[in-house]
Amino acid sequence: MSFAATTTATPLFRIKRSTRGVPRTRMAVRSSTISVAPMLTKLQSDCATPLPVLLHVADSMSTDMHAGLAVDGGSDLKMILSYVDSLPTGNEKGLFYALDLGGTNFRVLRVQLGGKEERVIATEFEQVTIPEKLMFGTSEELFDFIASVLANFAQQEGGKFHLPPGRKREIGFTFSFPVKQTSIDSGILMKWTKGFAVSGTAGKDVVACLNEAMDRKGLDMRVSALVNDAVGTLAGARYWDDDVVVAVILGTGTNACYVERMDAIPKMQGKFSPSGRTIVNLEWGAFSKGLPLTVFDRDMDAASINPGEQIFEKTISGMYLGEIARRALLNMAEEGALFGESVPEKLSMPFILVTPHLSAMQQDNADDLQTVGSILYDVVGVESNLNSRKIVIEVCDTIVKRAGRLAGAGIVGILQKLGKDSKSAIFGKRTVVAMDGGLYERYPQCRRYIKEAVAELLGPETSQNIVIEHSKDGSGIGAALLAATNSQYDHDY
Ligand code: BGC
Repeated sequence: MSFAATTTATPLFRIKRSTRGVPRTRMAVRSSTISVAPMLTKLQSDCATPLPVLLHVADSMSTDMHAGLAVDGGSDLKMILSYVDSLPTGNEKGLFYALDLGGTNFRVLRVQLGGKEERVIATEFEQVTIPEKLMFGTSEELFDFIASVLANFAQQEGGKFHLPPGRKREIGFTFSFPVKQTSIDSGILMKWTKGFAVSGTAGKDVVACLNEAMDRKGLDMRVSALVNDAVGTLAGARYWDDDVVVAVILGTGTNACYVERMDAIPKMQGKFSPSGRTIVNLEWGAFSKGLPLTVFDRDMDAASINPGEQIFEKTISGMYLGEIARRALLNMAEEGALFGESVPEKLSMPFILVTPHLSAMQQDNADDLQTVGSILYDVVGVESNLNSRKIVIEVCDTIVKRAGRLAGAGIVGILQKLGKDSKSAIFGKRTVVAMDGGLYERYPQCRRYIKEAVAELLGPETSQNIVIEHSKDGSGIGAALLAATNSQYDHDY
């Protein structure tokens, strides 16, 4: 699926201002100025998610899940088998490491598990920002960076924990990109997402890439579980609550996974797991059916490094909401004089407005919307009046409302798939959806829209049993737990 770029070229000329501290603007030359109000109404109607749209998205999600389980390549949804066939029980014991690579931040954790009685005894972690050049560099550079952060962190373990001779420390590696798992501790990167464009990793086993980098650093550790962040979140949340069956990540990127019966996966071809169940990673960012898209989404997609791909992700996840809003605001500034006759120059810079700005502006309850004013001034260099600030808020709300409601419809699609399957009927009993990710955590309106959409789709009675719960940083602990579950050693020390 690909989108053609559409252009709404308006002749522009720049006004150079030398006065320091005064925002740089350019003058838009228009034959006539359209009022901004109809532009907002059009945006709202293009982004609208009334019940029939939500129902269609939920149904298509569920149909695509079936098709993706039947055969590889059967739908937009890859329905990746995670090889996580047994979930943590609470008995896990020992010291484990977790690596978490999924976006701009990279985390390394050390988790001490104490079994049923003591549970998670201690967690230490370190977080570093991935230098931007590494997102566009070579595979070796990226994995060397990961291994060196891990090596420094592992060095701080000290002598407090005894590692029996001949054993290696085990790692749960959360790698949050589409990976075709070949076993619990190996998997091939299908493609990068979320703005990563590292050369030489696609098509390779990412555990082998990490092992080679660890060898180069002389680090003697082993990966015992390779997991997606959604899968790690499910495992982490399930450790505390047996009713967790679905996990959703709504952060820089987005994804979902759930617990499926082995015999409901035709493409498993007779594979067996003692529990009879396994976690399936939807890679739902690639979903694309029935989404209400605007010209701004299409233009953003066309300008992206992966045009035509990850359309659901580009509509609902944190990496993109700020950019969609920026494009809508730029259009309103150019065509509707949103900020007066001049157009702030910085508003033309892709990704200058980010989703945390949208959230911060939407939390502004002051009569004069002062925070909105300061963000607009500081970030895009525009002086705004109350009227334009109110429109900016409406634009943010329109974009996040669509995102939250579509994510809600996606969740209902998964529940529908589970519910249709009589043997694992979930409706009528408590069912927990574990959620994590910065967009979910730090954008209250987004959370509200997700929950509203789920309630609207399922009705008051059914939705009462569906608990959408924040599982904060669950994927790190989840990966450590899965490293323990899949450990090659006995851990009774
Ligand atoms: C990746 C998924 C990941 C999600 C959330 C997406 O871009 O394809 O594997 O789970 O982001 O981090």
